[in-house]
Amino acid sequence: MVKEVLIDCDPGIDDALALALAHGDPRLNVVGITAVGGNVPLEFTTENSLRLRDFYGMTAPVARGAGRPLVREGINAGNVHGVMGLGEVVLPETATELDPRHAVDLIIETLAAAPGEISLIATGPLTNIALAVRKEPRIVEWAAEFVIMGGAYTRGNRTPAAEFNVMADPEAAAVVFEAGWTTVMIGLDLTHQARANAEVRTRFAGLGRLESELLTPCLDFYGRFPDYRELGPAIHDACAVAYLIDPTLMDAVPARVDVETQGRYTSGMTVTDFQAPPEARNALVPTTLDQGRFWDLMTEAFGVVAKSMA
Ligand code: RIB
Ligand code: CA
Repeated sequence: MVKEVLIDCDPGIDDALALALAHGDPRLNVVGITAVGGNVPLEFTTENSLRLRDFYGMTAPVARGAGRPLVREGINAGNVHGVMGLGEVVLPETATELDPRHAVDLIIETLAAAPGEISLIATGPLTNIALAVRKEPRIVEWAAEFVIMGGAYTRGNRTPAAEFNVMADPEAAAVVFEAGWTTVMIGLDLTHQARANAEVRTRFAGLGRLESELLTPCLDFYGRFPDYRELGPAIHDACAVAYLIDPTLMDAVPARVDVETQGRYTSGMTVTDFQAPPEARNALVPTTLDQGRFWDLMTEAFGVVAKSMA
């Protein structure tokens, strides 16, 4: 059964690989892409979303969303993803237009048109999702599944307490986790198991333009940090897409997740209680990844995309 999905993202190198996975795996049909400011400013995440859609040969509408967090000043991860978001890669320009709607309206109208049938994945700060929940609270019932890449139940990556996506807009994350749906929280504890190491990258050889124009230059850039040399960079966002494709790739534990918004040192922390009573649980938290099957899935999907681009 093919799952329809709308992806809210901030491409971003791992967002780019997540979009390729979503497009290449036949079990998903991407019906919408919405951009949010995050890794890099909104103008770049929006342009990257448009260019990636056309580079991969996707057809989903792309809409521009929020450029800054609900309350705080924005932060970015240009030091990780490069100033324009895809390392030193500049994808071909595209003539196609953005969807005229704001991302929040594309999210609401897409879910409203098929209640219970379309899933939502967020791989960037949760500003668009929080605004959509506030504008139309019924989206929490209309979304078939809701999966985020964000948070951590041990250690953050932006601060010791907070992961980047949640740290970028803790108030939005708090709104999202309290909205009444079950959030599948694919956090750093899971995504740090998804490493594009040297062995994995040998599997991308021969994938034509996808490999030469995107995968290799982006992964070289993303993995340039010394401590990634051995392990390889973590492909965080693709894990959220992989979960929707095949949840058996991961062991997941129900939990209560609350987002800290007040702490001087702990703002953006996803306080995760695996011992919460059933009635208090608002999240499902994957903890272990079947790495072999994950990379099989990724390689298969990239092959499909590469063939369609040839
Ligand atoms: O912390 C990892 C997350 O922050 C990923 O979504 C990455 O793209 C960045 O947005
Ligand atoms: Ca991201």
